[in-house]
Amino acid sequence: MKTIIITGGAGFIGSHVVRRFVNKYPDYKIVNLDALTYAGNLENLKDVENANNYQFEHADITDAAKIKEVFARYQPVGVVHLAAESHVDRSISGPMAFVETNIIGTVNLLNAARETWNGEWEGKRFYHVSTDEVYGSLGETGFFYETTAYDPRSPYSASKASSDHLVRAYYHTYGLPVVISNCSNNYGPNHFPEKLIPLAIHRIQNNEEIPIYGKGENVRDWLYVEDHAAAIDAVFHKGGLGETYNIGGNNEWTNIDLIRLLCKIMDQKLGREEGTSEKLITFVKDRAGHDLRYAIDSTKLKTELGWEPSLTFEEGLPKTVDWYLANQDWLNHVTSGEYQNYFKQQYQER
Ligand code: NAD
Ligand code: DAU
Repeated sequence: MKTIIITGGAGFIGSHVVRRFVNKYPDYKIVNLDALTYAGNLENLKDVENANNYQFEHADITDAAKIKEVFARYQPVGVVHLAAESHVDRSISGPMAFVETNIIGTVNLLNAARETWNGEWEGKRFYHVSTDEVYGSLGETGFFYETTAYDPRSPYSASKASSDHLVRAYYHTYGLPVVISNCSNNYGPNHFPEKLIPLAIHRIQNNEEIPIYGKGENVRDWLYVEDHAAAIDAVFHKGGLGETYNIGGNNEWTNIDLIRLLCKIMDQKLGREEGTSEKLITFVKDRAGHDLRYAIDSTKLKTELGWEPSLTFEEGLPKTVDWYLANQDWLNHVTSGEYQNYFKQQYQER
């Protein structure tokens, strides 16, 4: 059995990647390496936790000695690295955790892979999962290409850019077999409700204000999370070494239009009169350094690796709402304790 370590597998995207790999590749032993921060939740993986080819390993990627020990014990042939601090607003109020996990943590993994593989690169692969935010902010037109110069503008995106550079440096300097992808905004089941879409679903359901930063004019390109997991599968298995692949939904929405659509869907699903949920929209102080627009060109991934998104937004968004309405326990569990304190700090002075 080939052992693949997936880091951050208890998080939003990681859990979808773990599920896909566990179910699709019975010949792989999938080790989910996760520190279980506020964003990590093993409930996301209840359906695969007893699978023969699945193993959870509780470890923090900032702990270099522990990571080396884990790699020595499992002898993985592949790494899919998703573990990260992922929320831009948290990076503004506390950048150090982002430097520690996203930069130092990534270097610890690179070092452990390099030491374990010890120059025998054949059949080995270190896949770093990154974000389109490394490219900065677009004006009203244009797209991010794989060749677009990096211009990160938040502590989160700067830490991800830094980790991307280090991954490429290990490829050029040591020959470590790496591949990188940069993806746009994901949405779907298990998305932590600090992020716009699940935050809004949760608050509409509870008849609470929906906070929209600035005028709601910022544009994001949304992709259903399982389509990202499918792209990760394709890049991990077929991507060229040292290559970068952009992943996006070709699905741009201003925040205000997206929230209006969501309000309409929620009114229907909750049996409310049309227009009820929209009244909850509240414009609040803008995010510092708020990137105006992201738009990804994923032609390379489509033409070279044959990937296409399977769901339109009009299909994926109601499906996502259905999942949240059917999974109240999941929401109640993740919105208790630490998250509530964070929510107060984040919005009390807006
Ligand atoms: P998430 O915040 O939902 O999950 C992160 C996971 O990493 C959690 O399970 C957490 O416990 C774990 N983790 C955090 N710090 C750790 C540490 N020090 N050691 C071990 N585990 C740790 O994140 P997500 O939204 O699923 O994003 C996953 C990856 O994909 C990140 O690298 C992110 O930058 C990237 N990405 C996310 C999006 C998006 O829209 N969410 C888009 C593009 C790229
Ligand atoms: O583009 C990929 C990135 O997408 C990932 O790398 C990040 O990990 C992920 O969190 C996401 O970043 P964003 O900052 O775009 O996502 P977020 O859900 O935080 O915000 C989406 C948009 O909504 C953004 O323009 C800010 C706005 N927003 C967000 C929140 C939380 C609001 O208007 N109000 C809010 O309360």
